[in-house]
Amino acid sequence: MENQLKSEVQQERPPRVVIFPLPAQGHVNSMLKLAELLSLAGINVTFLNTDHLHNLLLRHADVETQFAAYPGFEFKTISDGLPDDHSRSTDSVMEVLNSMNVTTKPVLKEMLVSGVLSNSVTCIIVDGAFTGFATDLAIELDIPIIHFRTVSACCIWNHFCVDRIIEAGGLPIRGKEDMDREITSVPGMECFLRCRDLPSFIQVSDLSDPKLDQIARTTNQSCRANGLILNTFEDLEGPILFHIRTLCPKTYAIGPLHAHLKLKLANNKTDSKRPVSSTSILFEVDTNCLNWLDSQPPKSVIYVSFGSITTLTRNALMEFWHGLVNSNKRFLWVLRPDMVAEDTEVPAELMAATRERGYMVGWAPQEEVLGHHAVGGFLTHSGWNSTLESIVAGVPMICWPYFADQPINSRYVGEVWKLGIDMKDVCDRKIVEKMINDLMVERREEFERSTVEMARLATESVSLGGSSYRNFDQLVDYIRQTGR
Ligand code: UDX
Repeated sequence: MENQLKSEVQQERPPRVVIFPLPAQGHVNSMLKLAELLSLAGINVTFLNTDHLHNLLLRHADVETQFAAYPGFEFKTISDGLPDDHSRSTDSVMEVLNSMNVTTKPVLKEMLVSGVLSNSVTCIIVDGAFTGFATDLAIELDIPIIHFRTVSACCIWNHFCVDRIIEAGGLPIRGKEDMDREITSVPGMECFLRCRDLPSFIQVSDLSDPKLDQIARTTNQSCRANGLILNTFEDLEGPILFHIRTLCPKTYAIGPLHAHLKLKLANNKTDSKRPVSSTSILFEVDTNCLNWLDSQPPKSVIYVSFGSITTLTRNALMEFWHGLVNSNKRFLWVLRPDMVAEDTEVPAELMAATRERGYMVGWAPQEEVLGHHAVGGFLTHSGWNSTLESIVAGVPMICWPYFADQPINSRYVGEVWKLGIDMKDVCDRKIVEKMINDLMVERREEFERSTVEMARLATESVSLGGSSYRNFDQLVDYIRQTGR
């Protein structure tokens, strides 16, 4: 009797979930939003960051204040196995991941079996873009594991369909002239998918490309996990979620995460002193641009931002600049300190030509900018967080995708959701000028109707009774039962 009672008491541990993001800004930001949503729901959360990223977080984002309200929340750190002086620059993410594959797996196992995480962790949520060592470990230790993907469902589904595309002869891609060839082997995308719309890691010219193995490994791992969390909503990507659920039945579409968290914080009447969760752990946010926007007419400004990773050549920078100047529209342009590949000073005559109409900033408060009445359009690289933020704000987009999931996101914005124009990989001042005028003048009413409706559906999905609200409740119920 006593043993039975003891085992029952031991069984009833309060659920604690470890959240383990890919050590890259766009991934950590989304996972922090998920961590706070779960904390608001009363789930104990351990956020496991690399030492390097955690130091950046503490320096740039007021995360300790942000999470002080949740007694069950804690940060833990783990080494990525690289020397302290390693740059860990954006283009070395693969090097960081390879190092973690070798050094982090045994350390994580020790933490889970006998270390700081032992006896408390009842579930692991890992960034599905990892090559899977955490999934292997969780399965070995019989700990429920859920994958979280920071990209769109349409991108994930393309990753799941790589074998189908190859079997149907859709890959490899045979040169630039092949880019407009149709890809008809992806269920749900048969009528509009071209080679140039595929996620860039799939656009290979050689089937032995190691990127394909990496994709096969991560998608296989997601199918082996106990669940898949996606930052999207049923009204936006329902048809694709239907296909994904044939392989991952427990797929929780709980996005748009930023809107979901904002609504839950408002309903929770969380302490108003709580800082708005910073979107940057690398750049200082310059809020002066909001004062400049205050003095601009409604919907007169095009906001230009290419996310935290995209880099531009000098030539591309000048093509965009001339296109913006010649469009005669007001513009707010994020010129990240590390964005232009070569050392580039913008010519004085161009600066003069834009003084009264253009405002440049190193890093903007993007959600506030997109929500500002003066902003009427968004020239974006189609990163998934930016795309969702534009959808929630009801701002039409011109899409200039750079890499990763961005090509398929831009195709959906232009061809499927009709929320803007897909400029794709052209960078020409005449095209930039024309697309800005199409978006802001010629086709303004057409886009106003579609963007207002999708913004309504996005907000409805995260509200009480909405699809993302209900999916999130199901996720919390699943995590709670892992403690039993
Ligand atoms: C990366 C990948 O590039 C992207 O394709 C993938 O979907 C997510 O991971 P990133 O390139 O940074 O993301 O783009 P995005 O997903 O749009 O995230 C950028 C974030 O930075 C957004 O939340 C945006 O609000 C924020 N941001 C960007 C700012 O706060 N200020 C800025 O000036 C620019």
